[in-house]
Amino acid sequence: LISQSSNDLNLTFVMDEAVADGMLPKLHEALIDSGAMPVYETRVFGPRWREINGNVRPRPMPWWRAAERRTALRALAAQDTPRYVYHLPTVRERARALNAIAAIDRRYYAIKANSHPAILRALVEQGFGLECVSLGELQRVFETLPELDPERVLFTPNFAPIHEYESAFARGVTVTVDNVELLRRWPEVFRGRALWLRIDLGHGDGHHQKVNTGGKDAKFGLSAQRVDEFVQRARELDVRITGLHAHLGSGIETVGHWKLMVDEMAGFARRIGSVGILDIGGGLPIAYSDDDEPFDLDAWAQGLADIKAVHPAFQLAIEPGRFLVAEAGVLLARATQVVEKDGVRRVGLDAGMNALIRPALYDAWHDIHNLDRLDAQRDGEYEVVGPICESSDVFGQRVKLPSATAPGDVMLIADAGAYGRSMSSEYNLRALPAEDVIDDE
Ligand code: LLP
Repeated sequence: LISQSSNDLNLTFVMDEAVADGMLPKLHEALIDSGAMPVYETRVFGPRWREINGNVRPRPMPWWRAAERRTALRALAAQDTPRYVYHLPTVRERARALNAIAAIDRRYYAIKANSHPAILRALVEQGFGLECVSLGELQRVFETLPELDPERVLFTPNFAPIHEYESAFARGVTVTVDNVELLRRWPEVFRGRALWLRIDLGHGDGHHQKVNTGGKDAKFGLSAQRVDEFVQRARELDVRITGLHAHLGSGIETVGHWKLMVDEMAGFARRIGSVGILDIGGGLPIAYSDDDEPFDLDAWAQGLADIKAVHPAFQLAIEPGRFLVAEAGVLLARATQVVEKDGVRRVGLDAGMNALIRPALYDAWHDIHNLDRLDAQRDGEYEVVGPICESSDVFGQRVKLPSATAPGDVMLIADAGAYGRSMSSEYNLRALPAEDVIDDE
């Protein structure tokens, strides 16, 4: 039985119980992975439920589509590829959207998403502080912005060597710890300090299991069961817990997630007594594909305002990464070869999983365009791959591109501003991609 419903599509098979186990992946492969069910074929499946109801919020036009920017990007690609290009006005626009949310008292940018100096400067100018997770990130921040008040910098490491905590204290930044063992093993490093405490609220979320940072299986955060023990040890060392921190995952689409966090954290904060600020982490998603809708920032802001009214004693802090920079960045690459093999057509790029690892690591989707033929019909279907010697070096399957796509064409991988260059490597001894900034505001 094939039926369409509010879930877009249901397939029901009736089979003998004895063969049911193991059948699902086989059916999946036969029907979906093989392309036998043309899910993109509108004549077969029709519009989505949300489209029928007319309440789809489309994604805004990306900055790089404007004609003059396309020209600028092609000129940059002519210098060398692969390269990342970041559009600072888009970063500022996202920052302004977060600045407009009244319930939030302090905003930090998680620089692990993209630590390009121009982005750090732009966000600090917008009033953001910076969240760092390593000594290297702290050094990047103070090299880029030597005058920055250390009070605007957070250090939120996990299992970092103890000397990194010592350096962070020496710099005067706000340090977050997430276990009691640190205080027990190195009491003199922490004695008399003011700290933030990262708690694991026992649940997590995120776009992929690999980015879920809450719950029993996650290495982050103090177990809620051990908060009293932590407070006791802190008291013995004259340590003051001035903030509570939690970050339970990345790319979370449940708008109510952060509201629930505030509620839970406020309970712990009251028990501890000295806490004035609740940092509810990052995790805001962006729409990577046309099937995703932009995050409902208004609903999110309303949820935070509602819960803040219940717990007015606490300031709220956030520390997003992706939301601020993902859409501001593209990865430019050049098509190397176009090859047909056993019915599959592949376009190779001179950028591989070493340049952008998200698809290989999380099965993440990034839109891919042929920048040299942007106005041509996307009448071909390709697997887009890189030059790395790994089977997972695939950027996307069944990607619609013009059938004239040819070696030498400049290709654009969209929404690559977050966790792109910052996670890149020199695997296979391929050079790190170059980086450029466009600031045409
Ligand atoms: N705060 C803490 C303590 C974090 O660990 C993270 C991200 C953030 C804030 C920012 O999260 P965001 O707003 O960007 O979701 N590489 C993965 C994402 C890993 C996020 C790690 N922590 C990806 O490409 O999807």
